[in-house]
Amino acid sequence: MDIIEALEWRYAVKKFDPNKKIDEDQLDRILRGLQLTPTSMGLQLMKFMVITDRETRKNITPIAFNQKQVEDCSHLIVLCRKKEVAEEDVSSFVKHTAKTREISIESTTMINYEKMLSGSLNLSIEQQQAWMENQVYIALGNLLTLCAAEGIDTCPMEGFDRKKLDDYLNLESEGYNAVVMCPIGFRSKDDKYSSVKKVRRPLDSLIEKK
Ligand SMILES: Cc1cc2nc3c(=O)[nH]c(=O)nc-3n(C[C@H](O)[C@H](O)[C@H](O)COP(=O)(O)O)c2cc1C
Repeated sequence: MDIIEALEWRYAVKKFDPNKKIDEDQLDRILRGLQLTPTSMGLQLMKFMVITDRETRKNITPIAFNQKQVEDCSHLIVLCRKKEVAEEDVSSFVKHTAKTREISIESTTMINYEKMLSGSLNLSIEQQQAWMENQVYIALGNLLTLCAAEGIDTCPMEGFDRKKLDDYLNLESEGYNAVVMCPIGFRSKDDKYSSVKKVRRPLDSLIEKK
């Protein structure tokens, strides 16, 4: 599919076919695409929990206000951000960058890089969380497009109780909070939303060309 065709084909699925599963190769491609999402300064202060286990997904349904997509999809992806940014996040990132690019960690370039990163993270907890959350949404957008290009259905979902999901998945104790979820899989033949026309603002009111 051409990318525009793929984006026209995708819609927020309300009813997944519970019998259809994404194969491992395709899932790996999607997760690799997710890994390639750009983030501010490259820090990737997030994690993606991929839930295959049906029982676990079933237990999440009531936390998601009984939205059945959670249990009927093939895999449920929970997109999380860190609770706060730690010094260690910056230093481990700088080490990883130095190793990947074969630059000495003691070099002036890397020392200055670490200073620059630490300096720009001088934010309140609220600012840190908003900043990290914005980037999780970039990952969500990337995931939706990636899946569409692969012929995989999705439904972005904010409709769930964040606190309850954090508790159920033990996210808080691991230093993370859930931001948004995305069930992925295959649309059911009788999902009536698959045939409704897309509603989008006209280009001339959405885009201003100067
Ligand atoms: C951040 C975000 C959160 C959403 N949360 C939900 C949700 O909890 N449940 C749901 O059924 N749809 C949810 N949607 C789907 C939107 O309602 C849908 O994308 C929008 O109406 C446009 O329709 P389309 O995606 O089918 O083209 C969400 C979409 C986004 C981007």
